[in-house]
Amino acid sequence: MAINEQLIRMFEERPQQFLSGEEISTKLNCSRTAIWKHIERLRQEGYEFEAVSRKGYRLTAKPEKLDVQDILKRLETSVLGRTIHYYDEVDSTQTVARSLVSQGAEEGTLVVAEQQTAGRGRLGRKWHSPKGKGLWMSLVLKPRIPLQFTPQLTLLIAVALCRALRQITALPIGIKWPNDLLIEGKKISGILLESSAEDENVQHVVAGVGISVNLTAEDYPDDELRAKATSLAIEAGKKLDRTDILCQFLKELETVYALYHEQGFAPIKLLWEALSVSLHRPVTCQTPKGLLEGYAVGIDDSGALTVRLSDGSTTQWYSGDIQFVAPEKR
Ligand code: BTN
Repeated sequence: MAINEQLIRMFEERPQQFLSGEEISTKLNCSRTAIWKHIERLRQEGYEFEAVSRKGYRLTAKPEKLDVQDILKRLETSVLGRTIHYYDEVDSTQTVARSLVSQGAEEGTLVVAEQQTAGRGRLGRKWHSPKGKGLWMSLVLKPRIPLQFTPQLTLLIAVALCRALRQITALPIGIKWPNDLLIEGKKISGILLESSAEDENVQHVVAGVGISVNLTAEDYPDDELRAKATSLAIEAGKKLDRTDILCQFLKELETVYALYHEQGFAPIKLLWEALSVSLHRPVTCQTPKGLLEGYAVGIDDSGALTVRLSDGSTTQWYSGDIQFVAPEKR
């Protein structure tokens, strides 16, 4: 076992107690300077120590890390999340999951990381994923559906996520088409689907989900992001247990996914519409053809947004980012 791990174990065996530098260096068979260096390194990882002369060191706080054994113990699913690949830091969990798929990863395989250095969002955007503050994960799915139905899966995942987060936090969370989760207009979660197909049938889907759980205002890199995004902790006014959220999400997803395979998209569409904050209001959408405007009335079976235009006709929007139009003041 590495010295750092032995050191943590020593402190954990004697909670709240001071361990003298002499005792530690004798037990771990290294110099007091080396011990001091290890303590400094642990501090950088988020461990907190109180140091008192002639008494030594006392561990006062540990970084909050996900614990795979704990997740598996609390998980109430039979397939989703039953195999977990956990990392301290990755570029993107999407990249890791895709490479696991190429090595034969099974449906339900979950990749989760404390931090992403190159988290990806939709439409080529970056996804801010600071260490230990959120749930940054990718799930391997192998649905038996034609490729053209994959947008339905995105909506299905948004439904499961929204239901899970509402159950845990009781916050007024809604879905903005196609798959952003918002609290009072600010984004708390996003979904990114990457899929592969053969003969027009889906081979696999890597469903990337980012949930901003315990970020504080200081965790956002700039005011622009602070104005658009928020976290569950900011909105709830308290820190939340990431394992609770993860387990509840996978449980909801397994239920909704089974419903989808049994009854198709119709029940999912109803659930999505009930949780949506995008419908029955004027919206705009920036597309390569320019700015589209209309009134959002529903979604169709392909997951596209049905929009009524000013001339009374309806049209479908298949992708893009919609903006809500504020009602005109009289
Ligand atoms: C979006 O709203 O634009 C989608 C954001 C998806 C972010 C998640 S975090 C885990 C997974 N890994 C990534 O690189 N992206 C997704």
